[in-house]
Amino acid sequence: MLKFICRLPFLLLFLSAAAQSPPTTLRLAADRAGLLMGTAVRPSLFSETAYSETLAREFNMVEPEDAMKWWTVRQNQGAFDFREGDEVVRFAQAHGQKVRGHCLVWDHNNPPWLGGGHFTPEEMSDLLHEHITRVMKHYAGHVFAWDVVNEGLDENGHVKDSPWYNQPGIGFAGQGTEYVAQTFRWAHEADPKALLFYNDNGGEELNRKSDAIYAMLKDLKQRGVPIDGVGLQMHIFQLKIDPAAVAANIARLTALGLQVHITELDIELPLDNSQVHPEDMGRQAEIYRAVVRACVQNPGCTAIQTWGFTDKYSWIGSHSHGTQGAALPFDRLYKPKPAYDAMIKEITAVRSHP
Ligand code: XIL
Repeated sequence: MLKFICRLPFLLLFLSAAAQSPPTTLRLAADRAGLLMGTAVRPSLFSETAYSETLAREFNMVEPEDAMKWWTVRQNQGAFDFREGDEVVRFAQAHGQKVRGHCLVWDHNNPPWLGGGHFTPEEMSDLLHEHITRVMKHYAGHVFAWDVVNEGLDENGHVKDSPWYNQPGIGFAGQGTEYVAQTFRWAHEADPKALLFYNDNGGEELNRKSDAIYAMLKDLKQRGVPIDGVGLQMHIFQLKIDPAAVAANIARLTALGLQVHITELDIELPLDNSQVHPEDMGRQAEIYRAVVRACVQNPGCTAIQTWGFTDKYSWIGSHSHGTQGAALPFDRLYKPKPAYDAMIKEITAVRSHP
């Protein structure tokens, strides 16, 4: 006992030094900062050791890249297929990670049987109501937040044509954001505990689109529509972003009483014969740092998520037909890139609770 008491000061000294030593992973930095640090995942890759080890070590949140979308869950009209989504939930449970759900209402990534004008607005309304209810109830208690509506506005801020709005829509064609309000109400009924998000791209800075997103969310809040947050996708093209404008946008959104999540961060680089220009790596790291800063300096910005984590598997390659790539914090061999260190440093500098 005496021996233990004598050693106590050394033990305390050791523990406090350990607490203050710089975090060695993104996940540790995020945990200390009270931040959710997530990434989009593909369950078919969990069997790749480097993939699952990096994922478990570096992130405290995951989101299915495609596994909870209509085209996966509803390949057939008559059945719900939760197998891939369930794999994501199981992985997250095994590694103490939160799951963000994506997405319930979108004009893309729907199964072919849904399009083609086969349904009346009444039938579309029943289909969507049933989908939201079944999916959210299946994942209740496992998925803490959902992107309920994804990309509902176009770049001018107008409500986008979609099977859910006006083609043929769920009964609110021509009534602006009314169909958005309806889907949030259904979502809240299905799982009252889940946080409900509107998620979009191109509205990260201050522009026509972000003004329209802001106006829509303000209106929905004022009308008592159950909505908790807004997702800023943050796919960054041509190494271009104005961090001050992002910070100002986050400030006005959080002032509405909404949480902000950065949901799909990636920063594509131009490829020359599949090669990155070496100086672009540093520029990419600086932008990752600036985006992280814009989020963590605002207590209402509670999560940062990258759209995948290794350049080996990223949607950017197919999206850009191979002209762009290397958009993520780990390279194709799972080696951390300068962007990785920049993020850890920034999270630790701005928001650390040792
Ligand atoms: C992308 C996935 O990464 C791809 O695997 C899939 O083929 C198409 O969708 N905005 C979104 C995401 O909200 O769902 C998209 O994900 C990327 C753009």
